[in-house]
Amino acid sequence: MKILHLDSSILGDNSASRALSAETVTHLKNSHPEAEIIYHDLAAQPVPELGSGHVGARFGAEVTDEALQADLARGNAFIDELIAADVVVIGVPMYNFTVSAQLKNWIDRIVVAGKTFRYGDNGPIGLLPEGKKAILISTRGGQYSAGHAAAAMDHQEPLLSGIFGFLGLKDLTWIRAEGLSRGGDARETAMSAARAEIAALSF
Ligand SMILES: Cc1cc2nc3c(=O)[nH]c(=O)nc-3n(C[C@H](O)[C@H](O)[C@H](O)COP(=O)(O)O)c2cc1C
Repeated sequence: MKILHLDSSILGDNSASRALSAETVTHLKNSHPEAEIIYHDLAAQPVPELGSGHVGARFGAEVTDEALQADLARGNAFIDELIAADVVVIGVPMYNFTVSAQLKNWIDRIVVAGKTFRYGDNGPIGLLPEGKKAILISTRGGQYSAGHAAAAMDHQEPLLSGIFGFLGLKDLTWIRAEGLSRGGDARETAMSAARAEIAALSF
């Protein structure tokens, strides 16, 4: 089993998604001791935002800038890792109602026409191999799940579900800890519930 594990929280040791993503990978490793794990901390080693140089390179412009060459190679490696992974585990914190900029920059490297999707006669076709699973750890200060007043402000989980679906990765398991900023014992309650869901995962 190959596991691709990503963290994207900017809150360091106080991060809820980092704690839960690590727990998820430990849980998977317990059932699959032979698993190979590739880990990226997208906050500690940030991916630059997509710029005009990337677009030019994709359309065949010669790349002489060494930093851009290295970045393009890193982006290609991200795609290879995603294609090879059996399970993708991602810490997905909500900042300003959407995913972190750090995770968005990774997304901007892996959504590439001709590599992870292509345009067919009837619209786009995802190119990620079948059988891949993703476990997505959603952490957020407020409450956005169905029935909550702020549900329409959730541009985090639907964004990532939509993008992975677009690429052909539809086997998604969301582990959600929400209401983390509500005070009292709300954080501990939400974290415990998420931990119980992780402990019950069977892969
Ligand atoms: C810059 C910033 C923006 C945030 N924006 C939101 C938000 O829009 N909605 C929300 O419910 N919580 C928001 N929060 C709270 C985070 O979702 C919460 O702290 C969560 O634990 C983040 O995951 P992490 O601990 O893994 O970083 C924000 C936190 C930070 C630091």
